[in-house]
Amino acid sequence: MKNKIVVLAGDGIGPEIMTSGLQVLAAVEKNCTRDFELEALPFGGAGLDEVGASLPEKTLKACQSADAILLGAIGGPKWENMVDAPEKGLLALRKALNLFANIRPVSVSSALMHLSPLKPAIVEGTDLIIVRELSSGIYFGEPRELTEQMAFDTARYQKAEIERILHSAFKIAQGRNKKVTSVDKANVLASSKLWRTTAEEVAKEYPDCQLEHQYVDSAAMKLIQNPKAFDVLVTENLFGDILSDEASVLPGSLGVLPSASHSVKGPSLYEPIHGSAPDIAGLGIANPISMILSVAMMLRQSFQEEAAAQAIENACDKVLTQGLFTRDLGGQASTAQFTDAVIQELEGA
Ligand code: NAD
Ligand code: IPM
Ligand code: MN
Repeated sequence: MKNKIVVLAGDGIGPEIMTSGLQVLAAVEKNCTRDFELEALPFGGAGLDEVGASLPEKTLKACQSADAILLGAIGGPKWENMVDAPEKGLLALRKALNLFANIRPVSVSSALMHLSPLKPAIVEGTDLIIVRELSSGIYFGEPRELTEQMAFDTARYQKAEIERILHSAFKIAQGRNKKVTSVDKANVLASSKLWRTTAEEVAKEYPDCQLEHQYVDSAAMKLIQNPKAFDVLVTENLFGDILSDEASVLPGSLGVLPSASHSVKGPSLYEPIHGSAPDIAGLGIANPISMILSVAMMLRQSFQEEAAAQAIENACDKVLTQGLFTRDLGGQASTAQFTDAVIQELEGA
C-alpha cells in the first residue's frame, strides 16, 4: 500500500529546500519497505496567490487524510499585511490537525563545532530536544484585541493541555538521559503557575526521570552558557518558539534544524524550524539540511524507516565533514550542490 505524503512547499526558500528534501527522499525510497505517494498542494502565500486562501479547503482535506505532511516554510513581505496572512494558515493547520507536540532536536556534530559562534568547549557534545507546546497558549488564546491605542492577547492553558505535553516530554526523556527541564515564568504568569504544578504532578508518573524547573529568562542564558546541561526542555508555545531559534546558534545556523509536530492520533507534520528567509529566497543558496533532516524525522517517526532515516543523517554529516558548507555556515556551496553531495553519499553507501 502506498503511503500518502502531502507536500506543502510554501513560500520564499520553502520550494527550494523542498526540492532538496524530495530528491533525498527519492534516493532512499528504494531501500524503504514502503512506497510513498506525494501530493503537492498550495499553502501559505502560495495558497493566497493560487486560490485566495492561506489554508485552502482542498489542502486541509488532503492533510487530514495524509499519512504525513512535509512543509517547507511560509510567509514573506508580499503577504504580511493581509488579514488571511500565511502565518494564520500555518496556525490554522496546526490547530485543525491538533498538532500539540512540536519536537525540535538540537545537536552539534563535530563537523559544525568550529562554525558555532560559541567556543567549541561549550558546544561540543550538545544534544538536546526542545518539546514545544504548539496548539495552545498565547498563540491561540481568546479574547484578543488590537486597536490603535490598545492591544492584548490571552495566554491560556487548560490543565489537560499541559499534562499531555509534559507526558510527551517525559516519554522522550525515558529514551534518553531521563532529565526534563520545564521552562516557565511561574514567578509572574498565572498560566506558568499552573504549568509548574502540573509538571510536578506528571513527574510523579515517571520516577525514573528527573524534573527541574527554570524560569524562561534564565533558561535563555543557560542554553548558551552550558547547553550540555539540557536533555529534554519542555515549554509553552511562545517560549519554545523563541528558545528554539536561540538554540540554532549552537550548531551555527537556523538552516540545520528540523522539527516534527505530532497529535494524539492522525498525521504528523515535519518542517524546518526556520521561516521562508525572504532575504535569500530565489538565490539558490539556502541551506537544505533543515528540510532534509525533517524528511529523516518523518521516515523514522511516521513510517518506522529507521535505517533510511539514519542513512540520511549520516550522509549529511559526512558531507559536512568533507567541508562542504552553504553560505550560512561560511561556505560557498549552493543548495543544489549540497543536496547532490548528500545524494551521492547515499548512493555510494
Ligand atoms: P527566517 O527564519 O525566515 O530567517 C531568519 C534568518 O535566518 C534570515 O537571515 C535567513 O536568511 C536565515 N535562514 C533561515 N533559514 C535558512 C536556511 N535554510 N539557510 C540559510 N539561511 C537561513 O525568519 P524571518 O526572516 O524572521 O521570517 C521570514 C518569514 O518567515 C516571515 O514571514 C515569518 O513569519 C515566516 N516564518 C515562517 C515559519 C514557518 O513556515 N514555519 C517559521 C518562521 C518564520
Ligand atoms: C515557527 C514560526 C511560526 C511560529 C510562525 C511563522 C507562526 O516562527 O514555526 O517557529 O511562531 O510558530
Ligand atoms: Mn519560530
